[in-house]
Amino acid sequence: MDRVIVVGSGIGGLTAALRLARTHVVTVVTKGRLGESNTALAQGGIAGVLDADDSIEDHIADTLTAGAGLCDAEAVRVLCTDGPDRIRDLAAAGVVFDSAEAGTGETPDPRDPSGWARGMEGAHSAPRIWHSGGDATGRAIVDALIARLLAEATAGRVALRTETMLVDLVLDAGAVAGVSVLGCGGGTEVIPAEAVVLATGGAGQVFAHTTNPAGATGDGLAAAIRAGARVRDLEFVQFHPTALARSGFLVSEAVRGAGALLLDAHGDRFMPGIDPRGELAARDVVALGLHRRMARQNGLPCHLDARAVPAVGERFPTIAAALRAQGLSLSEDLVPVTPAAHYLMGGVVTDLHGRTSIDGLFAVGEVACTGVHGANRLASNSLLEGAVFGARAANAIAAGSTESGRTSSSDAPLLDGRLVDAPSVVSALQPASAPLTRPELQALAWEHLGLERTEEGLTTLLEALDAGRGSERPADDPGTRGLADPRDGVADGVAAVTDGRLGEVEAIETANLTLIARTMAAHALARTDSVGAHVRTD
Ligand code: SIN
Repeated sequence: MDRVIVVGSGIGGLTAALRLARTHVVTVVTKGRLGESNTALAQGGIAGVLDADDSIEDHIADTLTAGAGLCDAEAVRVLCTDGPDRIRDLAAAGVVFDSAEAGTGETPDPRDPSGWARGMEGAHSAPRIWHSGGDATGRAIVDALIARLLAEATAGRVALRTETMLVDLVLDAGAVAGVSVLGCGGGTEVIPAEAVVLATGGAGQVFAHTTNPAGATGDGLAAAIRAGARVRDLEFVQFHPTALARSGFLVSEAVRGAGALLLDAHGDRFMPGIDPRGELAARDVVALGLHRRMARQNGLPCHLDARAVPAVGERFPTIAAALRAQGLSLSEDLVPVTPAAHYLMGGVVTDLHGRTSIDGLFAVGEVACTGVHGANRLASNSLLEGAVFGARAANAIAAGSTESGRTSSSDAPLLDGRLVDAPSVVSALQPASAPLTRPELQALAWEHLGLERTEEGLTTLLEALDAGRGSERPADDPGTRGLADPRDGVADGVAAVTDGRLGEVEAIETANLTLIARTMAAHALARTDSVGAHVRTD
């Protein structure tokens, strides 16, 4: 097998593509420019055990506890055990992690973790968050990996397709045979391949308030659902407690890790009354606590008080600059914060090698559900997951192990959660796939699929999302066949399937968000108990 397509260019996709470039003909497809992703926005850092006084068992225990009993223990062990080597790989690839010696005049070896500064975040029992540029860890990682990828592209080992959107997966006899994409020039095209790695990230844009970039529209997840891949746990959406009010800009948990406090509208601390860990409780606990406190104060935001954190502006330069642009000082002002959708714990079900239920289809990073996050992801485990499982998926492909993974419903424990059939949607390109405008969808999702959920609200949302579905075109309608029929173009080995009527990236994104919101709502309705980030108030 020669040809592999990697869709997405965050940490999972870049890691997989770089490894595969050694053995395969790799095409990287990415919707925007290279590296435009949630990874690039990641501030806090990457979690992992690199010190003798910390332990992998503790990292495992913290991850399992944060996940509220719904993690896959084997996957968590893999994450925490492989993690340290993947972090060292990042340093070897050129990521300069912040040094504990900064300001002392010492020049430590950037590859030697013993000199790195350790950060703390919520629900970790030890400081084990490694960061770069203070609060620009994700940017440092994508910059280093992109530099390597460009070198591979120059050497002819990787083809880059930027500004190219995944539309659908192409299947042949039930196995992946490539992807259909929408290029920047318009028109769709099929790119054939024997394996496809989905690394398309999350879907924060389902919600009116999110820390995610505009491109986080779940394109890979939606394509996988349409292709019939098993998905699970979509009810578990992580809401970050501290997005800057009215902007969605992330104010990293690492600021609380450095000592910042949360205050209500009266200037009172409230988190210690909710959880003994206070501001450093698990993220689901802090987000819900803040959300409920806001409700008690008529929707007014709470405040992050970092005024007593030593040298806070220097430690968090990206955040300080963003606040300055809003007329706020991190070191002198109270920062108004509200929760915002941040991370999707569920996704395309994979085994420990990124293999999905479809032969040849892999999923890594946020689009995947490896089982490491359970009902609530531990802070800074997301970059780690992308690095660990991006590498494992690439290794499996290199070893020729591309058959579908451990994904049948008998595969406990990974699959002992609820698996709800996705609504059947033929193509993202059907007009009726998106009965609501995007702002309507986002507002309704925020209201009914946000931090607190009820059967009534979820049903209201599903009814709104289903309105107009009766008028969907049948599968053999010529207007949709160009993309929905997997055989198009593949039989010829190449393919150019164009349809000027189909069009814009935005319409496909909205259809994808609609499909994902429907599936999330169905999963949330099916899970009648509250656990982790999924809170049913009825
Ligand atoms: C943050 O810096 O607060 C986000 C880190 C994460 O999502 O793990």
